[in-house]
Amino acid sequence: MRPIDPRELADRLQTIPPFHVMEVVRIAEELESLGVDVIHLEVGEPDFPTSSSVIERACIALQAGKTRYTDSRGIERLRDALSAWYQSHGLDVPARRIQITLGASAGLLLASAATTNPGNGVLMADPAYPCNPRFVEAVGGEVHWITTDMTTQFQPTCTALESEATASDRTLMLAHPANPTGQAVPRAELERMIHWCLTTHRHLIVDEIYQSLAFNDALGSSLMISDQHFVVGSFSKYFNMTGWRLGWLVIPEYALEATQRLAQHLFICAPSFAQEAALACFESDALQEAEIHRRELKARRDLLIPRLEEMGFQIAAEPDGAFYVFVDASDITSDSQQFCSDLIRETGVAMTPGVDFSNSLPPTWIRIAYTQPADRLLEALDRVDRFIHD
Ligand SMILES: Cc1ncc(COP(=O)(O)O)c(C=O)c1O
Repeated sequence: MRPIDPRELADRLQTIPPFHVMEVVRIAEELESLGVDVIHLEVGEPDFPTSSSVIERACIALQAGKTRYTDSRGIERLRDALSAWYQSHGLDVPARRIQITLGASAGLLLASAATTNPGNGVLMADPAYPCNPRFVEAVGGEVHWITTDMTTQFQPTCTALESEATASDRTLMLAHPANPTGQAVPRAELERMIHWCLTTHRHLIVDEIYQSLAFNDALGSSLMISDQHFVVGSFSKYFNMTGWRLGWLVIPEYALEATQRLAQHLFICAPSFAQEAALACFESDALQEAEIHRRELKARRDLLIPRLEEMGFQIAAEPDGAFYVFVDASDITSDSQQFCSDLIRETGVAMTPGVDFSNSLPPTWIRIAYTQPADRLLEALDRVDRFIHD
């Protein structure tokens, strides 16, 4: 009997591009094993720990035997807590429309599965979070990239959608703010795109995983404009719970019952003890901590950007939130992948080449994650400065 050839696996496995940042990660690990002090600006997760109140609640939940399946939609108290949290931000999102998921990742997969038939197009900005195309492909959809640039914050515009969308494009996927740029969709443009989706009967999925990490309080959720689309949320970033695998999906009424049925079949439920623990996120201690972290991230952004500009990096526009800045290094290098490899090797500073996020941008972009305390960021900036100018 011959073993199965990997080429006999599904076509979608043959086309998954490698993460170019893995080369940087490999060199970083090698250097760290030799005792080199590596400053990690490549990883897309916050450096803050999960709140101790959440950890305590998880321990209590585990001791109390909260280790079994829960209601597939998520425990009622957590859905109520999320609904109340939205209410505190002026948004009316009833708990019944909230599906607890295994991180935003499962929310994106679920929303893609709920909206996309095989062969349907899903409109998406280039650059984008690199996993998004995989969710679409997993359900047989085809990504229709919308090329963007600095002038539109690397977000699609309604004008671009009107001229580029075809009849088979049934869904628009947005991130607000986005990874790798940290930039949100301006309010007027968001209104136009939502209106376009409604009038052309297209589904809309808005990934708002970084919404609570927006630095401008005026930057609101897309739910302020309409309740007729899917909104993806997560405990990963704002509540520093990346490893807990917990998020949620706000489902529009028209898709509610069927999407929840699908979630039941795909996932059964999110981790029960993590759901219990997450209840502590909405109590004052954890909320205060999260706000302190958000302010800290804003201060880091403000520290980083002028220094990067001085060094010759071009910043698309000031990030609206999250913990990323997407920079064009074309005045410094014509190959940001090589630059990132050389930089880590020479200085121990790790960054992500922009090619991981884009098919269309020139290979001169870099994503810098400011997931290090200010003193470490300053140290990283000094090292990069010396690397470029010495
Ligand atoms: C834009 C975006 N969406 C979704 C995710 C996945 O998040 P989660 O940990 O909640 O699955 C990430 C993670 O980096 C992200 O940047």
